[in-house]
Amino acid sequence: MIIKPFLREAFIPLPVTFISTISKKGVRNIAPWSCVMPVLRPLDLICAASAKKRDTLDNIRETGQFVLNLPGTHLADKVIPTARKNSPEVDEFEVAGLDEKPSNTIQAPGIAECYAWMECKLYREYEEEKYVLIVGKVLRLEVSDDVLRPDGSLDVEKAKPLMMTGSKKGMNFCTVTDLGKHEPFSAMFPGDKDPFATRYDS
Ligand SMILES: Cc1cc2nc3c(=O)[nH]c(=O)nc-3n(C[C@H](O)[C@H](O)[C@H](O)COP(=O)(O)O)c2cc1C
Repeated sequence: MIIKPFLREAFIPLPVTFISTISKKGVRNIAPWSCVMPVLRPLDLICAASAKKRDTLDNIRETGQFVLNLPGTHLADKVIPTARKNSPEVDEFEVAGLDEKPSNTIQAPGIAECYAWMECKLYREYEEEKYVLIVGKVLRLEVSDDVLRPDGSLDVEKAKPLMMTGSKKGMNFCTVTDLGKHEPFSAMFPGDKDPFATRYDS
């Protein structure tokens, strides 16, 4: 089947994240955000694509801060309440019935019910006619101990990351399955030497 090019995202299962911000007046905002990617390994940058008219974008521009929160499937019911257009004066933690997790490095709070939190400061933005690419520098990354395996990797069966695929009519929510297959990064490199190996030493 040949599909219209603009439906490209429907065939890439996307994470459903929540970006939480505060306005310069101090109003808390939450929005679901799926067009998100880390900028290469082992950098500490994260890129989020934004439409032009977003309170989230305004808040990030005004304060230079945001939290990228990672929800489990139990928060699927919070997607639509936070995706609906609300006035910038409305506290979206209250709208969605979500609790605040105070941040350590920035003023914008995270969402307590999520399993991981990236406190970010605005690093750069790239503006085009129809979109803005926001690049954030992750200042602090915290993950709930409950979803970590002994080796520090994510136990996806416990975290149940909220994800979605698109369709012509809307979003199909899903999560991921662990295949139980592991390959070291070093397997990609000549001599089995990962050039970034020392970055992972604590
Ligand atoms: C699952 C999901 C993912 C979304 N991803 C994005 C995204 O990546 N970029 C974007 O600009 N809007 C995205 N949106 C739309 C915004 O969440 C929505 O417009 C929201 O009202 C923006 O809130 P704000 O004006 O408070 O920032 C997404 C919506 C949903 C439901």
